[in-house]
Amino acid sequence: MRRTLADVKLMKVGGERISMLTAYDASMSRLLEACEVDMLLVGDSLGMVMLGYDSTVPVTMDEMIHHAKAVRRGAPDSFIVGDMPFGAYQTGERDAIKNGMRFLKEADCDAVKLEGGLKVCGVVRALVDAGIPVMAHIGLTPQTASQLGGYKVQGKGIDDARRLLAEARSLEEAGAFGIILECVPDKLAEVITEAVAMPTIGIGAGAECDGQVLVTHDLLGMFEKFTPKFVKKFADLAPVIKESIVEYASEVKSGSYPAAEHSFTSDCDYSLLLKE
Ligand code: KIV
Repeated sequence: MRRTLADVKLMKVGGERISMLTAYDASMSRLLEACEVDMLLVGDSLGMVMLGYDSTVPVTMDEMIHHAKAVRRGAPDSFIVGDMPFGAYQTGERDAIKNGMRFLKEADCDAVKLEGGLKVCGVVRALVDAGIPVMAHIGLTPQTASQLGGYKVQGKGIDDARRLLAEARSLEEAGAFGIILECVPDKLAEVITEAVAMPTIGIGAGAECDGQVLVTHDLLGMFEKFTPKFVKKFADLAPVIKESIVEYASEVKSGSYPAAEHSFTSDCDYSLLLKE
């Protein structure tokens, strides 16, 4: 049965921790659904992980929709959140609703996510009023990381922490059903988690959030460009993949692959064809 927003909300109420992971294609979302991950995020991190950009900034709505559709095809029963890319909601409520609707109508997502604090509360309200469930995202917000002085921990000082707490409260008031807390001190994440009724999902925000999210390629050790401190590599697949590919290429060169068991046979004498 397909998971719903009500299921997600009930998890916080019942004290059940929420697992969330990124997915960008059908083969991975099929695996994640089989593992009963609670929520899938079609993150704009796909810009770096899948498309080879240096940041999430260049990612377009069309690219997000293309990947979100594939994720839904692989995971028909999962709760899927589509990430609004940079430029999809900063130009006003009308554009935000138009783009948010695309995630629901074209890719069959259950909700959208967007980055920012007080500045995006109006947009969050407009989306929710239009019937689009919204997940907020504060702390380190990668789309505007340069304005934050780079990929740095946010809310270390008390004034900054107060601002983040106020933002979380305002986003909840604006109608967000959940919030991602990225790269904030664990104690601050704990305070925010206590202060809001919506589930908090941490990434680099300690163990006291209501749930956790990671980039799947990071936890599998498949993204070698950089590994943030908060990532635990549950597997180290990049070397395994490389070894397998090197072996394949060498077997192709030597002729040992494909072997007889990988080939199709017939009783026909095809050499006759050359004599016709
Ligand atoms: O784009 C993304 O993958 C994200 C998560 C890491 C929170 O925003």
